[in-house]
Amino acid sequence: MVRVFHIFKFFRKMASRDTTDQQRMEKIVSLCKRRGFIYQSGEIYGGLNGCWDYGPLGSELKKNLKDFWWKRTVRDRDDILGLDGTILTHQEVLKASGHVGGFSDPMVDCKVCKSRYRADAVPDAPCKEKLSLPKGEDKSCELTEPREFNLMFQTQMGASAGADSVAYLRPETAQTIFVQFKNVLDSSRVKLPFGIAQMGKAFRNEINPRNFTFRSREFEQMEIEYFCRPEDGMRLTDEWLEKRLDFYGEIGIPREKLHILDVPDGERAHYSKKTYDIEYEFPFGIQELEGVAYRTDYDLGKHQECSGKPMEYFDEATKEKFIPHVVEPSAGADRTVLALICEAFDEEELTNEKGKTETRTVLRFKPRMAPIKIGVFPLLKNKPDLVAKAKEIQAMLREHTTTFYDETGAIGRRYRRQDEVGTPYCVTIDFDTIGENGPEHDGTVTIRERDSMKQERVKIEDLLGYLLPKLV
Ligand code: GAP
Repeated sequence: MVRVFHIFKFFRKMASRDTTDQQRMEKIVSLCKRRGFIYQSGEIYGGLNGCWDYGPLGSELKKNLKDFWWKRTVRDRDDILGLDGTILTHQEVLKASGHVGGFSDPMVDCKVCKSRYRADAVPDAPCKEKLSLPKGEDKSCELTEPREFNLMFQTQMGASAGADSVAYLRPETAQTIFVQFKNVLDSSRVKLPFGIAQMGKAFRNEINPRNFTFRSREFEQMEIEYFCRPEDGMRLTDEWLEKRLDFYGEIGIPREKLHILDVPDGERAHYSKKTYDIEYEFPFGIQELEGVAYRTDYDLGKHQECSGKPMEYFDEATKEKFIPHVVEPSAGADRTVLALICEAFDEEELTNEKGKTETRTVLRFKPRMAPIKIGVFPLLKNKPDLVAKAKEIQAMLREHTTTFYDETGAIGRRYRRQDEVGTPYCVTIDFDTIGENGPEHDGTVTIRERDSMKQERVKIEDLLGYLLPKLV
């Protein structure tokens, strides 16, 4: 399976990059590390290239995304079932799918500096060994002819190494679905059209991991294989494209920042009769978030041919037996998390009480995606009544949602810290709350909203009813 090259896309993307976008991306990467969203894997040993660890807030954000995808895809529907397959994959599965023979990218090396690049992504930079050449001399890399580089990670199963013990880390979650198609069909007795959904890790030994988590070697996919009658394949591909665009709207990625690429003939994967790429305007260019591909009966047909096991569907109504076709919306969890962060990141100039201009950094996540939904603060930390009430309110809220208790520093600073990680609401417990300013205020708290910074007083007994509907 030779991966499709979007060379014209590459130039389109490079053209859209400017310094401001670069600076914005640098700020995002820095915030991700500083506030515990994303760290380089193995950083203290110099880092494992193309691998990323999600910190306390990043793991919540990613979980919110995956839970919401699962809800919309599996739990809210009768026609899509879930699967959680293994990462270690039988070599015959990936031989049948074409990955062993052809899941490769063309790779080139510089004969001088020995750098290695994907042939379609050679950077427009001088050769590292020729930097000191005088002005006017050719400083470019001297590249070899492209040769194919298989992107799969291979491993050995069991104690004795040999050809039979070879296994692979899956390069896409899709193949487990195809291989378990018959088991799901027989155990669930579903009828066409129906889908099987899976989310989980996939691994590709990318030649040039780049753009933060965008192109990683270990990443997560959220894939649906939607099986149908052959005559419905094209229509359902168009319908799935629309459904997936709606999904991005629901998580906070506006339609105007998404682009649809109808991948032309000759650029699609060999199994695909139609593919739409859903692309997002990242600060580093317009890049793919998800592919919606009409894979026909290619995969089930190949697995039937190679395993000798039937993959057919029997239609009770028409008495026909046939291999179903499949439409595949295939999204990347890491890329979507990155898009969520890029979309949410904002800096605004504010004038403080002393008349000075300061910059407020805000992650404007949709509340349903925000890692922390409610910050809870006692106005002062050295007032036991305030602290006790704040902890009591936090205990009540955390039964329903994610909360964060903070009693350190001035209240304004605490709001800013929550703005920077995208917490949509903060609840402050003050002297009115505990009735010290007179009985007429007893039992109210201040709710401060992240984007408008507006504050409202709400009774404690109304707090859940006020906040919870705003968080979904
Ligand atoms: N089953 C089809 C398939 O795997 P793909 O276009 O190769 O198709 C689907 O991958 C999605 O998986 C991409 O749109 C992207 O979001 C994500 N993805 C693929 N390679 C990735 C990588 N190296 N790093 C992060 N995400 C990746």
